[in-house]
Amino acid sequence: MRLLLGCAAVCFAAALPAQGIDAVGDAIPKPLTAEPGDAARGRSIVVTRDQGGCTLCHAVPGEQRFGNIAPTLAGVGARLSVGQLRLRVADSTRVTPDTPMPAYYRTEGLHQVAAAYRGKPILSAQQVEDVVAWLATLKGPK
Ligand code: HEC
Repeated sequence: MRLLLGCAAVCFAAALPAQGIDAVGDAIPKPLTAEPGDAARGRSIVVTRDQGGCTLCHAVPGEQRFGNIAPTLAGVGARLSVGQLRLRVADSTRVTPDTPMPAYYRTEGLHQVAAAYRGKPILSAQQVEDVVAWLATLKGPK
């Protein structure tokens, strides 16, 4: 029985997708998860401070309080493809090396990371997919 459980744990770990970012050009064409992103969950991650915290820098449709050091996210789903959105959320330093935007799905090459967060991305793969699903719905000017 113990042998069986041991194998289950190891085999499960081996089956998990690698955490690398599979970028092609300025996009990540393939989803990070098998489960499609959920736009409603994504919106909540975007506006929640200790999750996405995107409103610190970006105007976000439907929000009254936001920072303005970054372009508005209104219309971003019309400006960028789903794959382009995915790379910008996962690791925007691959697009703009000196961007102030956090690399939400990167774990390597970071400095001064608190012990509890070492080796963990800011957002999980599913959360990245949820955020991208919501961004893709933002087609209009508002
Ligand atoms: C600390 C500030 C900051 C935070 C927080 C931040 N961003 Fe950004 N973001 C920027 C800046 C500045 C840019 C403009 C280009 C650059 O510097 O990379 C940008 C660019 C983008 C772009 C490309 C926009 C375009 O029109 O080309 C997307 C999409 C984006 N951010 C989404 C997000 C999302 C989603 C979150 C939250 C999960 C987020 N950002 C959090 C600063 C931020």
